[in-house]
Amino acid sequence: MKKQVSVLIGAGSIGQAIIRRVSVGKHIVLADYSLANAQRTAKTLEDAGYECSVIQCDLGENKDIIALVDYSTSKGDVKYVVNAAGVSPSQAPVERILQVDLYGTSVLMEEFGKVIADGGSGIIISSQSGHRFPALPQEQNDALAMTPCDKLLELPFLKEITDTLKAYQYSKRCNVLRVMYEASRWGKRGATINSISPGIIITPLANDELHGPRKDGYLKMIQSSPAGRAGTPDEVGDLAEFLMSSRGRFINGTDILIDGGTTASYWYGDLQYLKATH
Ligand SMILES: NC(=O)c1ccc[n+]([C@@H]2O[C@H](COP(=O)([O-])OP(=O)(O)OC[C@H]3O[C@@H](n4cnc5c(N)ncnc54)[C@H](O)[C@@H]3O)[C@@H](O)[C@H]2O)c1
Repeated sequence: MKKQVSVLIGAGSIGQAIIRRVSVGKHIVLADYSLANAQRTAKTLEDAGYECSVIQCDLGENKDIIALVDYSTSKGDVKYVVNAAGVSPSQAPVERILQVDLYGTSVLMEEFGKVIADGGSGIIISSQSGHRFPALPQEQNDALAMTPCDKLLELPFLKEITDTLKAYQYSKRCNVLRVMYEASRWGKRGATINSISPGIIITPLANDELHGPRKDGYLKMIQSSPAGRAGTPDEVGDLAEFLMSSRGRFINGTDILIDGGTTASYWYGDLQYLKATH
């Protein structure tokens, strides 16, 4: 019998929390822009009894994604794909955020959608940030959902973006729309694909934000949110495990917020003051 394979792109904290919950007895492919990060995660997982291999992959590069698909299928049947790679507004300029978070993530869904195994599942980590800006015009939604990947970055409204937070928000909104678009294709193979939009989850990426130029705003937002605290990678892992399990098979093409009530409060609660700035 062929081995089942779990693929993780972005071997960071959230990705690791998810993949270890769903990969007992499977081969885990850890793909990351930083080989050192992938190797560190591999060591942690191997010390806990998992079988892993690592591959360097820049999610912003089409050729790296194709190579990752080839590599993963050479290891067995791809049952799970988790995309937890991404760059935040404090980590990169506009072009790089759009290249990785918007374009690369779209290519990844399309390419793995061609090989995902029957009964398989994909999880794309989006963000609460994508739920923060008002509804886009329907033409923009349609364009983000359905434009062929190689034309995505040419969309005129994306070319007008000048600040990194907007680039991140558009990217994360695009992830959710693209998941809706891909659900039919993944469904035809007997697989599901969903996104998860976390609020602030304590990880190295979040710590960059919590020490970056917007740190005061983030801390106030956490304290004033309904949960009154940040989240943990394990909480996101628990949700993903459910979506990918046999109990989650009727859930396809949707996005689930896990943010301690922050988005609800942003629109209609104590965090409405943020509307003036975000
Ligand atoms: N931590 C949060 O508060 C939070 C909130 C909402 C959404 N997210 C999203 O969760 C995802 C994972 O973030 P995390 O908090 O676990 O961060 P993390 O820093 O722990 O992990 C991110 C990993 O992605 C890798 N990576 C970055 N760019 C890459 C690229 N171009 N190609 C391949 N790998 C790349 C990094 O090397 C790192 O190992 C991101 O998409 C992020 O936008 C995080």
